[in-house]
Amino acid sequence: MPNTYHTEAYDDQRPGTSGLRKKVSHFQQPNYLHNFVQATFDVIGNFAGSTLVVGGDGRYYNREAIQIILRMAAANGFGRVLVGAGGILSTPAASCIIRKHGAYGGLILSASHNPGGPNEDFGIKYNTGNGGPAPESVTEAIFSRSIEITRYRMLEAADIPIDNIGSYYLGEMAVEVIDPTEEYTKLMESLFDFDAIRHLLAGDFSILFDAMHAVTGPYAMEILHHRLGAPAEAILNAEPKEDFGGGHPDPNLTYAKELVARMFGEDAPAFGAASDGDGDRNMVLGDHFFVTPSDSLAVLTANADCAPGYANGLDGVARSMPTSGAVDQVAKAMGLECFETPTGWKFFGNLMDAHRVTLCGEESFGTGSSHVREKDGLWAVLFWLNILAVRKLSVTEIMQQHWVKYGRNYYSRHDYEGVETTAAQAVMHRVQAAFPALQDGTLAGREVATCDDFAYRDPIDDSLSEHQGLRILFTDGSRIIFRLSGTGTVGATIRIYFESFESDVARQGQDTQAALAGLIHSAESISDLANITGRSAPTVIT
Ligand code: G1P
Ligand code: ZN
Repeated sequence: MPNTYHTEAYDDQRPGTSGLRKKVSHFQQPNYLHNFVQATFDVIGNFAGSTLVVGGDGRYYNREAIQIILRMAAANGFGRVLVGAGGILSTPAASCIIRKHGAYGGLILSASHNPGGPNEDFGIKYNTGNGGPAPESVTEAIFSRSIEITRYRMLEAADIPIDNIGSYYLGEMAVEVIDPTEEYTKLMESLFDFDAIRHLLAGDFSILFDAMHAVTGPYAMEILHHRLGAPAEAILNAEPKEDFGGGHPDPNLTYAKELVARMFGEDAPAFGAASDGDGDRNMVLGDHFFVTPSDSLAVLTANADCAPGYANGLDGVARSMPTSGAVDQVAKAMGLECFETPTGWKFFGNLMDAHRVTLCGEESFGTGSSHVREKDGLWAVLFWLNILAVRKLSVTEIMQQHWVKYGRNYYSRHDYEGVETTAAQAVMHRVQAAFPALQDGTLAGREVATCDDFAYRDPIDDSLSEHQGLRILFTDGSRIIFRLSGTGTVGATIRIYFESFESDVARQGQDTQAALAGLIHSAESISDLANITGRSAPTVIT
């Protein structure tokens, strides 16, 4: 029987950059998850009888949350829910399934790259029928509803056996437990030349993929091992675990330690990659070589015609504002439109729906295309393998030839994690206060062109997003950007992004931190960061 239950609302359910993220214990408060789910169902429109997709990255509390959502979906009138077996769906696979089945939308359970376990993070977000994260108008409506809600609806029923693929019923609502990898694998086969990649891997080209005990393990096993013939040992940490094996499932040089050690050690494989907790991020490495995500987007754009799914040309490209301008150089040469959006994947959706953009990416290890409406880790890995199979060059050679042709954008991001919130705000104020003196002046021996607080007007729906990052732009194309993270769950994270452009081939072989040292030093001094926060060095450098 569908029952209506009384509840007290919560006032802290405003979703951040990618949904609502809190500690697991926070989600376990009475009706906390229920409130968010009911608030979502109350505002997303008339879904009676239609399909909802539900799945997550397998982290702690995923299974309990799914059972709650299933019973609430049934009581609220959905006709059918598609749920990944074991409660597993990578974020890009969920996007793929929403689109493929014409679902009304989906609830994705993940805190992405944040650690998992009883004392770590959990998260939930709503994706709309285009497969992408709900736009701000929807997330704000969910938030407004969540603070005034007084009741939720839920069916009294036994748990669905979500480990067993098959069809079930919850009241009148059908529940289909589906293979999490099938639909996604088909999509990848339609985009990339699997024969060419199989041929490459059958030779002496060895690869390593680190699934970090997170959601991509089963996907990598199915695609890289079963379909493309990579040995099973090429997939590290393939089994998804509720606590990601105690690790931090973020594919960067700091957290993907095992992979990085192998790729920079003796007898390194030709290609290495890792993905994050929910499978939407990627890191690409060559033998003793790290590809920055910004460069990766530029390389995929420049070589898109190697992949069958993109051989007919691209609509355009987009990058988030803090992402380096490497792709801009390629877009210019190829005569493609190039968009600069605020941080967060949701800003790319409108551009893709309007066929203005095919490829897009962020400096934070996110790359993707209009094949889904999320960034996609394994997709990027397959794209690279497809390019390597066609061009028959090493990762290093591809990158070096790219820089010769388009110039090199030195790029780095410094993160100060877990900073006290008031101190982080003080740093931002200090930077903004320095703007008038910097305008038309010089910093780090470079001429400042302008300073601003980045705002974006969406070219499709005309919505305005303000306060998206403090920028110091130099006349030589260099940039320093200060931003506060919107995804952390403890205190604040200050991110500082550095970029400088080098067209002189003789100067393209420098160490990144050395090449950016002047900008880094200036950023530290104008923000007075060490004094204000008590931090002498970043927590993570990428
Ligand atoms: C971070 C990244 C951003 C990405 C988001 C979700 O957000 O910087 O590019 O879209 O995670 O993966 P932030 O914590 O900076 O708000
Ligand atoms: Zn993620």
